[in-house]
Amino acid sequence: MSEALIKKCLFPAAGYGTRFLPATKSMPKEMLPVVNKPLIQYGVEEALDAVMTGMAIVTVRGKRSIEDHFYINYELEDQIAGSDKESYLKEIRRIMNQAVFSYTRQIEMKGLGHAILTGETLIGDQPFAVVLADDLCYSTDKGVLSQMVELYKYYRCSIVAIEEVPRNETNKYGVIAGDEISPGLIRITNMVEKPKPEEAPSNLAIIGRYILTPDIFDIIRQTPPGRNNEVQITDALLVQAKQGRVLGYKFKGRRFDCGSVPGFMEATRFFFDNVYQD
Ligand code: G1P
Repeated sequence: MSEALIKKCLFPAAGYGTRFLPATKSMPKEMLPVVNKPLIQYGVEEALDAVMTGMAIVTVRGKRSIEDHFYINYELEDQIAGSDKESYLKEIRRIMNQAVFSYTRQIEMKGLGHAILTGETLIGDQPFAVVLADDLCYSTDKGVLSQMVELYKYYRCSIVAIEEVPRNETNKYGVIAGDEISPGLIRITNMVEKPKPEEAPSNLAIIGRYILTPDIFDIIRQTPPGRNNEVQITDALLVQAKQGRVLGYKFKGRRFDCGSVPGFMEATRFFFDNVYQD
């Protein structure tokens, strides 16, 4: 088998999850379960399906349960060994057998761009994917990351997943504009972080799936703080976009905004009805 082109996936997991307080007071928002599986596990499974085996997770104080989740729990495993309950651990065991996890901590909370830069030490000089675990993606066929890797194989440049959002919600997203080079694929010429509806260049929003070329790290280093006085990945990507090196991809599937309570509830209902198997 030829070696995978994108081997590592970065998970920025250093946010506070304030919209879910008090649930997230001592529990990382990435560990909130949709039905019986924590959000970050869905993201890791999507990355594994795209043949990425290096899971690079940027955490912060109070997020240790993420590390524990992807590690052996000897006592528990010993207790349920040989019982029918063992089947509940099948998926997580497969992940632990196939993936290698590495962690680093973000010391200051200076935005998504800064969190991605913090992960440089885990990624090195190679193209990589980024998953924001609170954007939960579902598709009946290939996962969104797999779809994006297919495109990367051909275009070899940064790619962001996009979807249309209502105009009055552009201030929640990075918003792009550009030229459609084939159905659903846009060569990005402009991108703005969380613009007001009247200032948005379109209603095409970036969702939490990216493939980034490694020169992005140097660009982030030179990117001044933007929206909310934070270093924004959207601003760094604009530098690449101006050189014609960023694509926006209207992915196939559905995305749930699990960073909000309504989106999270919608995902829970959907996954219980359509995905969950007892
Ligand atoms: C981040 C990005 C934004 C993107 C969004 C997708 O914002 O900064 O460009 O559209 O994720 O979920 P956040 O939701 O972390 O504020």
